[in-house]
Amino acid sequence: MRVSTGEIVAAAAAAGRGAGAFNVITLEHAEAIVAGAERVDRPVILQLSENAVGFHLGRVRPIAAALGEIATAARVPVSLHLDHVADESLLHQTADAGFSSVMFDASTRPYQENVAVTRAAADWAHERGLWLEAELGEVGGKDGAHAPGVRTDPRQAESYVAATGVDALAVAVGSSHAMTTREAALDLDLIAQLRKTVPVPLVLHGSSGVPDEHLRGAIGHGMVKINFGTALNLAYTGAVRDVLAGPNPPVDPRKYLRVARDAVADVVAHLLTVLDKAAG
Ligand code: G3H
Ligand code: ZN
Repeated sequence: MRVSTGEIVAAAAAAGRGAGAFNVITLEHAEAIVAGAERVDRPVILQLSENAVGFHLGRVRPIAAALGEIATAARVPVSLHLDHVADESLLHQTADAGFSSVMFDASTRPYQENVAVTRAAADWAHERGLWLEAELGEVGGKDGAHAPGVRTDPRQAESYVAATGVDALAVAVGSSHAMTTREAALDLDLIAQLRKTVPVPLVLHGSSGVPDEHLRGAIGHGMVKINFGTALNLAYTGAVRDVLAGPNPPVDPRKYLRVARDAVADVVAHLLTVLDKAAG
């Protein structure tokens, strides 16, 4: 069933659980994410990034419509979130494309500019009943901006949330986007400090590189929305590669996309159960 991201995140925060948010590229990603969530009976957030919209020829509505139908047909609560939006014109398409939430990403801009454009984005979103996530302290690794040492300052985060009115805050605490190995070490003390100073749910980006025990630790210290992308693509592409490298490689894409979809569903089911268990 289709619900809003705000509902999923609020319920997870109240229960001390993580809310799993997974990036969609192809239709099979979305089908796999929902299949994995249904298998373990957990709510799930389907995310579409600005980069993925670019892959779909810059047209957000066709893929969003498909995601909306997948969410509506699901046996578990599913929400649609537009992720890492830096382009205001794409932000403004959120309202009538079926998303209940958006991450407006001004994290690479100077602080005062980040505050000003994010305040405007949050006001715009709230006038339309949308939930808005923003980021302070760039999470390294995206598009070559690899900066694993970046950290969000708890006092600056407190002022930022007060000044912008955002509903959730993505913070830099040691994870890095697009890691293909799970060896990121999170700064759990910093997460705990951020939890004390920031009155809205905290969001972990680059979660594919974080081992299970650190995910549990992050949730135990106050992280709520947990974003995964690369972990799914590792499973998806690995499965396709195996099928195509095997005997009698098929021509019909269904033969390898079916295997990819099953592999992604397995990863999602596992990660969603990890997010249940906070560790102190
Ligand atoms: O916003 C999406 C996430 O931060 C995905 O990061 O691909 O490193 O898991 P990841
Ligand atoms: Zn991210």
